[in-house]
Amino acid sequence: MPIAKPIIWKTPLTLALLVAIPVALSAVRLMWFANGADPMAETMDTSHFANIPIPIIAHIAFGSLFCLIAIVQLTPEWRMASRSLHKTLGYIAAISGILAAVSAMIMVVIYPTGPFATTTLNVVRFGFAAFMGLCILNAVRNARARRIAYHRAWMIRAFAVAVAASTQAVFMGICFATIGDPSPVLATGLLTLGFAINAIFAEWWIIRARHPAPSFT
Ligand code: HEM
Repeated sequence: MPIAKPIIWKTPLTLALLVAIPVALSAVRLMWFANGADPMAETMDTSHFANIPIPIIAHIAFGSLFCLIAIVQLTPEWRMASRSLHKTLGYIAAISGILAAVSAMIMVVIYPTGPFATTTLNVVRFGFAAFMGLCILNAVRNARARRIAYHRAWMIRAFAVAVAASTQAVFMGICFATIGDPSPVLATGLLTLGFAINAIFAEWWIIRARHPAPSFT
């Protein structure tokens, strides 16, 4: 009788934890749109979303889809279970990720005065959104050319930038809890730091996968 392989939950659970904050925020924001009321409207100016809702709805729907599919794609046991499923989900994730990135760039242009917006933050957000889109395009190009190590590296970069929203939420949460509402300059610094930390972590992860630590066992 074949021995059933144990399902390894550590990777998908860690990834689920990483995507939890932006996906949960997206779900809450979508519910507010569906109900036609924003309970945060009194404490935060969200009129820009209500006035032009399509870009933010596309952004959060496609961004969440990208993050959720990434959990399946980045879990080795699930990825290797079916190559055709990996390929199909990969194309759906790639299109979703690119649409999330493009809608982020559109939002930077059409909502330049959202809460905390500074010119620097707009440039940083636009730059990282463009970078995320380019990472996904590079990942698809390398997958089609069967350069799997490069494909993997570009996908890790794209995922890391996408879930920077989690790192940013932690920094902003600490700020709200300790010193209260951040000034636009402080918010720009914290949000930029969130993107930078995730991008650096992705590079460390890619290098570590290329040169695994020697095993002494
Ligand atoms: C490069 C990656 C990303 C960039 C540059 C980016 C950029 C933006 C921008 C410019 C806004 C509008 C902010 C405002 O005007 O108030 C926004 C809002 C939002 N984004 Fe992203 N985003 C990225 C990735 C994601 C992903 C992957 C998700 C979901 C999984 C996500 C979820 C959200 C949510 C929920 C909001 C609304 C926040 C609120 O309710 O105030 N973002 N994002």
